Amino acid sequence: AIERTLSIIKPDAVAKNVIGQIYTRFENAGLKVIAARMAQLSRTEAEGFYAVHRERPFFKDLVDFMISGPVMIQALEGEGAIAKNRELMGATDPKKADKGTIRADFADSIDANAVHGSDAEETAKVEISYFFPALNVYSR
Ligand code: CMP
Repeated sequence: AIERTLSIIKPDAVAKNVIGQIYTRFENAGLKVIAARMAQLSRTEAEGFYAVHRERPFFKDLVDFMISGPVMIQALEGEGAIAKNRELMGATDPKKADKGTIRADFADSIDANAVHGSDAEETAKVEISYFFPALNVYSR
């Protein structure tokens, strides 16, 4: 099915100047950018986005990292977009990410892991609407 997923290029990858290289991977895999914006997240915005992780021991470090510099946020659309994006990203921990994945190629650590991608249809919906009002999504 045609799906949408929320992708974030994190501060480490923005700082490495690889937004374009990551977009090329999305495009070559048939994922279309249907909404995009660069942002410096506030602590409140980052905490809200990662609210499901609030009780996890890594929450504070994760939020600190996500507000350490600008991020590039996009909604992607395509056949099986959620799983496809997760395949392109590779495992959360770059040490465990398959060769040729975004995280294997661009990530440094489990926090500075280059990209975020929604993990399921329901979270994709919530995450896309968190950053993009419907009128800023351009599906065709
Ligand atoms: P992300 O896909 O953005 O979702 C939550 C983030 O928490 C994850 O990527 C990692 O960058 C970060 N994180 C840090 N430690 C862990 C951990 N032990 N398990 C999962 N995610 C972690």
